[in-house]
Amino acid sequence: MNAPNGNNSPWRLCIAPMLDWTDKHCRYLHRLLTRRSRLYSEMVTTGALLHGDERRHLRMDEVEHPVALQLGGSEPQELAHCARIGMRWGYDEINLNCGCPSERVRRGAFGACLMLEPQLVADGVKAMLDAVAVPVTVKHRIGIGQDEGYGLVRDFVGTLARAGCRVFIVHARNAWLQGLSPKENREIPPLRYEVVYRLKRDFPDLTIVLNGGVSGDAQIAAHLAHVDGVMIGRAAYHQPWWLSGWDAKFLGGPPCALTEGEVEQAMLAYMQREAQEDGTPWPAIARHILGLHHGQRGARLWRQVWSDHKLKALPPDQVGAMARAHLEAAAHEVKAKRRQALDELAAQAQELGVGY
Ligand SMILES: Cc1cc2nc3c(=O)[nH]c(=O)nc-3n(C[C@H](O)[C@H](O)[C@H](O)COP(=O)(O)O)c2cc1C
Repeated sequence: MNAPNGNNSPWRLCIAPMLDWTDKHCRYLHRLLTRRSRLYSEMVTTGALLHGDERRHLRMDEVEHPVALQLGGSEPQELAHCARIGMRWGYDEINLNCGCPSERVRRGAFGACLMLEPQLVADGVKAMLDAVAVPVTVKHRIGIGQDEGYGLVRDFVGTLARAGCRVFIVHARNAWLQGLSPKENREIPPLRYEVVYRLKRDFPDLTIVLNGGVSGDAQIAAHLAHVDGVMIGRAAYHQPWWLSGWDAKFLGGPPCALTEGEVEQAMLAYMQREAQEDGTPWPAIARHILGLHHGQRGARLWRQVWSDHKLKALPPDQVGAMARAHLEAAAHEVKAKRRQALDELAAQAQELGVGY
């Protein structure tokens, strides 16, 4: 079954908003690897935007588009004001966080607990839609606490749809508001993909994007048969090279034109530019590339160099050269071992008097 909204949804593949992870540097890396998937900012609270340093939270690079700003908040007029600020900074979508279970978020009365207040969220969505010309979307869970009933999420989506929300990103787990840390809340409540598929069947005109536990091409393909899009978080972050296949496999685009080495070089150039333009120290950027050579020989030592804070006074190209030396040494070692094995085979063949 093909997703009823076809294969061209702008939400077909998305990289999840992740606090402290998907900052502008991380998104720059992801955009080198996939031109067509949709990127999300970390959650920015309305309080941080209204009273904090707007530029620090919202600065982004032109290459990042399409990119969404995720807001955390619940007061409709504040949300509308912040959505307007986000649009002014060039974000292509405003997304409201109704899925974060953390204690701090709950005290601020937003995040996952908002699923219990659909009318308040609907008012917020409506206020944002009135304020901006870009899509306003919502990211949420499939339920709250141990209640595995379908009614809560169905009515939540229905209420927001009536307020004008057309795109729902659904983390296919309940949020347990008591007794679990945010990390545990991304692992322990069971994944129930069927609930997300059911939302798509019940609301065929809405764009439904599935999120949670997706870590391979086969899983993406399987979910895309039921929903309009898939959002991926941790696996994308930890294995960024995986993203380089997405455009060609799922998004009708050309394959990534860069090799891993070229991506690393592009990130080096970016580190130098950011240091000059903004005084950003390279470790703040390098921490996002640590998974780039995931699974390769020499990757552990390569990673150790890039994450060695004792090197932070060195220029990044020097650090890059030290790191790359480990990959090259590992590749050299593999070649030498192969050659040795071949030489041994040839010697045995000669002893046995057979041609080789
Ligand atoms: C470090 C980290 C930070 C996160 N921060 C946010 C956030 O700011 N907003 C949000 O909606 N979800 C946040 N999430 C949840 C992810 O967006 C996503 O819903 C979750 O990780 C499940 O997807 P995955 O299994 O593909 O990682 C965060 C996840 C991680 C690992």
